[in-house]
Amino acid sequence: MWVADMDFRVAPCILEALQERVNHGIFGYTEIPSRWAKAYQNWWSKRHDFRIEEHWLVFCTGIVPALSSLVRKLTTPNESVLVQSPVYNCFFSSIKNNGTRVLCNELVYKNGEYEIDWADFEKKLSDPQTTLFILCNPHNPIGKIWKKTELARMGELCAKHGVTVISDEIHCDLTEPNLSYTPFASASEICENIGISCISPTKAFNIAGLNTAAVFAKNKFLRHKAYRAFNTDEIAEPNAFAVTATIAAYEKGSEWLDELRVYLSENKKIVRDNSVQAGLTADWTRATFIVRVSHLQKLKDFAYTERVPIKEALDVALERFLQDQHNLLSHDKERHGGEILRIDGEKTYTVKEVAERQGFMVK
Ligand SMILES: Cc1ncc(COP(=O)(O)O)c(C=O)c1O
Repeated sequence: MWVADMDFRVAPCILEALQERVNHGIFGYTEIPSRWAKAYQNWWSKRHDFRIEEHWLVFCTGIVPALSSLVRKLTTPNESVLVQSPVYNCFFSSIKNNGTRVLCNELVYKNGEYEIDWADFEKKLSDPQTTLFILCNPHNPIGKIWKKTELARMGELCAKHGVTVISDEIHCDLTEPNLSYTPFASASEICENIGISCISPTKAFNIAGLNTAAVFAKNKFLRHKAYRAFNTDEIAEPNAFAVTATIAAYEKGSEWLDELRVYLSENKKIVRDNSVQAGLTADWTRATFIVRVSHLQKLKDFAYTERVPIKEALDVALERFLQDQHNLLSHDKERHGGEILRIDGEKTYTVKEVAERQGFMVK
């Protein structure tokens, strides 16, 4: 299992709907019924206080495929796409694999919170080569739920510099039990008009393997671009279970999801408390099922850029980091017999250098 999944069994309402679909016994091509759009509409109205018009919605087989497809359609090679790092790794691959450059507006870590460096954000937007901004709302991996005022300010600055916004909102239903998120499109009229939002039940309901997602855009030009992009890239057709699972999740999964959010919140608290006992600190992530534990978190963020002073405490954290972060590092056991060497002295290293010295492969 990869870090982006939960190991909970899927909600009974989804299993029952899928079972029924299996019993139907015919698995030809699937048309997307208006009930599919209604399910999204009702969910966003009830849970996120935002009205999505039916014709704004476009089906796609996943958010990462949609990001890549939109980057291809909305940019030309060598343009720059802005992201707020640290951020979900596939943003980088979707940008780079399609011939565009990544521009990072690095989030600033202060007192357990990440904040936007607004001057840097605007400077990077004002680069004539910057044409697209991929926002993560709520933000993976920092678990931040952006405030309405922050979203509106991002939208205003993007509009000022002619930059289109793609808002990836896949984590929006995994907020802490008493918290909700603000859809980017609901933050202001400007935001509603300059963006494409990516939404999906897959993260919250643990059905990523069913390949089902949607984007919506009020702006006709952007919506049409998304529609054309998904068609030319052949990511516009659902598999036999994609629509069924989405409808079941949004029509009947509310109670299950609320129980899950309480459970996740309690789990995250246990991890935070244990981290404190182990002499580490862990940030309170207001969304996602991810907990970020320092120094692991710091080291991960700095993996490619900053040089980190290796002090005694950090040494221990680094060792654990190297052992635990299978998603970032894989151990070359053949060459080093599975042993992890300690780093000593006061020299500084990037994690990448340390990893390379010790025969780890940075993925
Ligand atoms: C921010 C973000 N976007 C997209 C995805 C994956 O989306 P999909 O499975 O629909 O491609 C993930 C999975 O972890 C994610 O964290």
